[in-house]
Amino acid sequence: MPGSKAWVKSLGQKPGSKAGVKSLGQSPGGKSRGQRPGSKAWVKSPGSKAKVKGLGLLVIKCHAYQSQRTWFQTQYKGFIYVNLFYKLYNLIQMKKVLITGSSGLVGKAIQNILPDKEQYIFITSKDADLTDMSETKRLFEKYKPTHVIHLAACVGGLYKNMNNKVEMLEQNLLMNFNIVKCAHDYKVEKLIACLSTCIFPDKTTYPINEEMLHDGPPHNSNDCYAYAKRMLEIQCNAYRENYGDNFICVIPTNIYGPYDNFNLEDGHVIPSLIHKCYLAKKEGKPFIVRGTGKPLRQFIYSEDLGKLILWVLENTNERSLILSVDKEDEVTIEHMARLIAKEFDYENNLFFDASFSDGQYKKTADNSKLMSLYNDFDFIAHEEGIKKTVKWFTNNYETARK
Ligand SMILES: NC(=O)c1ccc[n+]([C@@H]2O[C@H](COP(=O)([O-])OP(=O)(O)OC[C@H]3O[C@@H](n4cnc5c(N)ncnc54)[C@H](OP(=O)(O)O)[C@@H]3O)[C@@H](O)[C@H]2O)c1
Repeated sequence: MPGSKAWVKSLGQKPGSKAGVKSLGQSPGGKSRGQRPGSKAWVKSPGSKAKVKGLGLLVIKCHAYQSQRTWFQTQYKGFIYVNLFYKLYNLIQMKKVLITGSSGLVGKAIQNILPDKEQYIFITSKDADLTDMSETKRLFEKYKPTHVIHLAACVGGLYKNMNNKVEMLEQNLLMNFNIVKCAHDYKVEKLIACLSTCIFPDKTTYPINEEMLHDGPPHNSNDCYAYAKRMLEIQCNAYRENYGDNFICVIPTNIYGPYDNFNLEDGHVIPSLIHKCYLAKKEGKPFIVRGTGKPLRQFIYSEDLGKLILWVLENTNERSLILSVDKEDEVTIEHMARLIAKEFDYENNLFFDASFSDGQYKKTADNSKLMSLYNDFDFIAHEEGIKKTVKWFTNNYETARK
């Protein structure tokens, strides 16, 4: 019957295809249905009466075949039109997702995992300087996005945060303000903005959850980055409360992966250590890690985070959501440094220099809200993530950000 599973399946077969002809050939007449006049069975049929009867049956069968085929073809054409209409409808309904910060660690990861990129607009600082309101407006006017994933930020590790406080504060305040305001003014249906667990209070109880962001000042080492990001959350909530805007803040822990910033001074701990170990091995020098190696962190591989952000885009409208591995998967910097050294086959040359600052001792984050919504998400093991990142860095040494 049209509409039944079998019917839908048979529509997948072209009318002229073997399977299509075969199914049409199976008439109540059984085997002889496929035998043509002139075939052995036809010549053999006894007497003229039988021949006429046979001919009559054949005509009826041919007619049935013809009408079936015509009906089938009409339906088939109908399905083509329905398909076309469906495609057109999808095109009209289609999300236009603007992703800022597309050249960065997370932006690249999202690009790499997307099977189909036609709905996405990937933005870097070459397309618009998001600290400039008129350039940001121009971007929204040009693309008219229905959804925005805002990743662009002035990002860095401990030393960049300590040495560039004004830049970290001003660049991030401006970028975030412009994006959120434009998302509202241009009636974006959903905005996903990116915070970080490192902006939470320095002195707090652990594990931290989504509700504890403003419970105390951040660590002095990254206070400017942290306050700028906290204002992003305040602004998103204000629009949510006053205008009902679907503005969501996701809160990742420490991220690592291909396309990171591997700069020795400005980069985050994992990419900096990868670069350091690469150079140490190349120059036959010790691989020295700054600090004691004792601080604890929850690391997330960039593609895992990319998958989770795309899942948020489709599946939840929570006001804020920590995106992290379990708190049981928190590891020391030393653990990750050993994994890196192992990947370079340089384990016996690893040393720690305790004269350098450790930064915040831990920032343990609670991912139970995420797990309550998506409990079967499969995080990649650190061994695998480090292996992939080291391989990418080694293969792309010349062009990697460093
Ligand atoms: N990395 C982490 O460990 C971590 C942890 C938690 C949260 N986060 C958050 O996750 C998000 C993504 O971080 P990420 O590590 O992918 O950053 P990233 O690798 O440093 O990339 C930063 C991106 O922002 C863009 N950008 C910077 N200034 C811009 C400007 N004025 N105008 C337009 N675009 C600008 C850069 O574009 P160009 O390449 O063209 O300069 C780049 O695409 C950020 O919001 C960050 O705060 C990161």
